[in-house]
Amino acid sequence: MERIENKCCLFSNLEEYPVTVTHETLDAGATLPAEAIDAIERAATAAHPHEELLSARAANIKQSAVRDVFDISMQPGLVSLAGGNPYLQSLPLEKLGQTAARIIAEEGMTALQYGGGQGTEELRQQICTIMAAEGINDALPENVVITAGSQSAQDVATKVFCNPGDVVLAENPTYVGALNTFEAYQVQVEPIEMDDDGLVPELLESRIAALQSEGKNIKFLYTIPNFNNPSGITLAEERRQRIVDICRAANIIVLEDNPYGLLRFDGQPIAPMRAANPDDVIYLGSFSKIFAPGLRIGWALVPAHLQRRFYLASEAVTLCPPPLNQMLVSAYLREYDWQGQIDTYRTLYAERCQALLSALDEYMPAGLTWTRPDGGFFVWVTLPEGVDTYPLLRKAIDAGVVFIPGAAFSPADGPSNKLRLAFSAVPPDTIAEGVRRLAPVLAEAIEATTEGAPQ
Ligand SMILES: Cc1ncc(COP(=O)(O)O)c(C=O)c1O
Repeated sequence: MERIENKCCLFSNLEEYPVTVTHETLDAGATLPAEAIDAIERAATAAHPHEELLSARAANIKQSAVRDVFDISMQPGLVSLAGGNPYLQSLPLEKLGQTAARIIAEEGMTALQYGGGQGTEELRQQICTIMAAEGINDALPENVVITAGSQSAQDVATKVFCNPGDVVLAENPTYVGALNTFEAYQVQVEPIEMDDDGLVPELLESRIAALQSEGKNIKFLYTIPNFNNPSGITLAEERRQRIVDICRAANIIVLEDNPYGLLRFDGQPIAPMRAANPDDVIYLGSFSKIFAPGLRIGWALVPAHLQRRFYLASEAVTLCPPPLNQMLVSAYLREYDWQGQIDTYRTLYAERCQALLSALDEYMPAGLTWTRPDGGFFVWVTLPEGVDTYPLLRKAIDAGVVFIPGAAFSPADGPSNKLRLAFSAVPPDTIAEGVRRLAPVLAEAIEATTEGAPQ
């Protein structure tokens, strides 16, 4: 139970301010009438009657561990290797400001009005061009649904397919925001283990067989095949078709989440699973990592036979994706060198990843291993068995560095000996300094665990 609380509010125990009204705090208002003090005390100790009205679904919704550490990460002097923020400083911000002003001045009646629920035709066409750059050559704009980021598309997919108690399969580890979405729909998330080449097809197949023989309804496999968040692992090309085939045979949809695919450091992108499987894969894309997350524009490419269900569910939540933001993204794709910008990002993130890997080589104590990603934002560090990384967060903050403990990225409760380091938003020198600060914290934890271990 303690572990669940840790996961749902990773950081709350680190806050300084009092979270309940106590007698000490009431003493400060000793001149208040007795009944007012009574009322305050009741409010402080009894749950609000509205608690009874909450749905079981609401009780399942948790704050993301990443958002828990978001505020503390911003403190001056701390090195944050926690948040996977893209490096926006390299965008032409002044020029983009002029473009946004022009859209409002010249096309404000459209940009500031309600728009179509599926998104603008122009942006859906441009999205098809972007997907072609990754190897999806047959996408039609009518099968694209624009959403408030990939996050919202995950929510819509879960709403469309899942009843409480249904099963969703996910790589272990996986994106914490997706776990939060699935849990909010009261589904059972079943983790499938990965190796260095990603999801292991044989483990997927045997898990599906076991769950289906128990009578479970498995609805989809959620997978981040390129530079998985948090592990940085890429699903090997030769495994991709096999995984779709296993799912197809068991009548399970593949939900392929690919926000980092174009951010491969070297060489050409590996074709997404959607490329050769238009009827079996819902493909999610996003402008968050290749342009700007604050615009909240992502998309789903949906099999034609599911398009209407998906689009109606999306429209029921947002009415329409924001027209102004869509028009700004369209102008960016039309008028700017967006591919050049992606190349800039690839070079920049490759340098930062290398800085992180070199610093890990230089400073980390023996007994640790870590992944070596080919793209994306994250490196996943494994400590020896028995070390729990969650309590180390407090010590790391005291040492001036922030990371995300591994437990956040698994549906299973229980301690984790892993942690995630993000290199995307931090310059190389600062990355090295962060690792230098983290190393003694981890060394001490390893030593304490080894000392406590039975001889
Ligand atoms: C795998 C994955 N999917 C989705 C998202 C959220 O993307 P968006 O900003 O498009 O909602 C993230 C963000 O970190 C992510 O890592």
